[in-house]
Amino acid sequence: MASSIILSSSFLPCQLSNSSRVHFKPYNTSTFKLTSLATKIRASSTSFAETKPTDPVIVEKDVRSSKNILACPICYEPVILIGATVLSVGSASESSLHCSTCKKTYSGKETHLELTIASGSKEYGDAMPLATEFFRTPFMSFLYERGWRQNFVWGGFPGPEKEFELMKDYLKPVLGGNILDASCGSGLFSRLFAKSGLFSLVTALDYSENMLQQCYEFIKQEENFPKENLILVRADIARLPFISGSLDAIHAGAAIHCWPSPSAAVAEVSRVLRPGGVFVATTYILDGHFSFIPFLKPISQRFAQVSGSNFFLSERELEDVCRACGLVDFTCTRNRRFVMFSATKPS
Ligand SMILES: C[S@@+](CC[C@H](N)C(=O)[O-])C[C@H]1O[C@@H](n2cnc3c(N)ncnc32)[C@H](O)[C@@H]1O
Repeated sequence: MASSIILSSSFLPCQLSNSSRVHFKPYNTSTFKLTSLATKIRASSTSFAETKPTDPVIVEKDVRSSKNILACPICYEPVILIGATVLSVGSASESSLHCSTCKKTYSGKETHLELTIASGSKEYGDAMPLATEFFRTPFMSFLYERGWRQNFVWGGFPGPEKEFELMKDYLKPVLGGNILDASCGSGLFSRLFAKSGLFSLVTALDYSENMLQQCYEFIKQEENFPKENLILVRADIARLPFISGSLDAIHAGAAIHCWPSPSAAVAEVSRVLRPGGVFVATTYILDGHFSFIPFLKPISQRFAQVSGSNFFLSERELEDVCRACGLVDFTCTRNRRFVMFSATKPS
């Protein structure tokens, strides 16, 4: 069983800094800085004993900074960039990507690079499960950062800024490398990653063209946004358009419960991470007292079949799917139904 830290909303972390149960108030930025929270959490757990409160952020030197990470989603062979000399969020419309093995060209749209398998097809279009289609609508995409995401606080999500601070601690070994923000939605974390300057390249990826459109609009509205190190890609999480072993870090915020098949997705995460690469994700979990509900497992499986969403995974199941897909060193931080976990590709 992996170690985990429980966060719940009634107390401040300093009140319980010597136990594995740490409490905090969601969204109360004035109360404390989450960077120090993360340090305290790790310092207070035997499984994090190697992390000292004074540890500086160390950026590894040997991480990849190359932008040559994109691959054909059909054969996973590298694609050749045609048109623009450099890929970035501003140059997608002048760019296309060619796979010389499949003899297929993936065109760039104004807002993103189109790298789904079915891209370019005239008649055919995949019908995805409800949980995926829901976020493809213009209405949901517009609403997402304008109220929808804020509601996650009721499930225990601390909010994007605090989640970002918390995850930086998990990402320490791969800072300076490239990062994929998988299922980025309207790009709230992709934009934070790009602006932080902590990564050599940020890829914001989602299946929803409308979410990517929103991300593009938010970037356009911001003065002096560092566009050169960010690309927007449309792809399916179960068919990632990256060369195997080419990514240093993958983040998936509030997404696993929306993926049609978490195992197919985590297998892809594992394929594209380089040895030592880090996967960090947040989602909802349902365990503890809830595991005593009779027939919870068959009910949750039937719910997943019908809706395409996986809202009822437990911490053990998350650890298990990571292990089954070849990821190790599972650790997590919890707050009510919120969990942030991390797992690593073995070196
Ligand atoms: C709840 S949003 C999370 C957005 C953001 N990462 C966050 O932390 O708020 C879930 C996202 O998963 C995306 N998604 C659902 N199914 C997907 C799939 N098969 N491939 C890629 N993304 C998918 C949706 O389009 C949506 O943007």
